[in-house]
Amino acid sequence: MYVCLCQGVTDGQIREAIYEGCCSYREVRESLGVGTQCGKCACLAKQVVRETLSDVQSSQAALACSASFVAA
Ligand code: FES
Repeated sequence: MYVCLCQGVTDGQIREAIYEGCCSYREVRESLGVGTQCGKCACLAKQVVRETLSDVQSSQAALACSASFVAA
């Protein structure tokens, strides 16, 4: 799904940017250019960033959890 029509950025690209190390909307904006023209997509883009960051955090928590099982 296209989040930003001006820059042709999809939600998948935003997720990928986060998986590759972006950890805020600002970093995603700098790397993909999302929201840098008309700005209409900013709200939706921020939402995608927020959702993806919380997914990443919960999967990291799951990883940490299974790591402690291995260590035990
Ligand atoms: S739709 Fe994203 S800047 Fe215009």
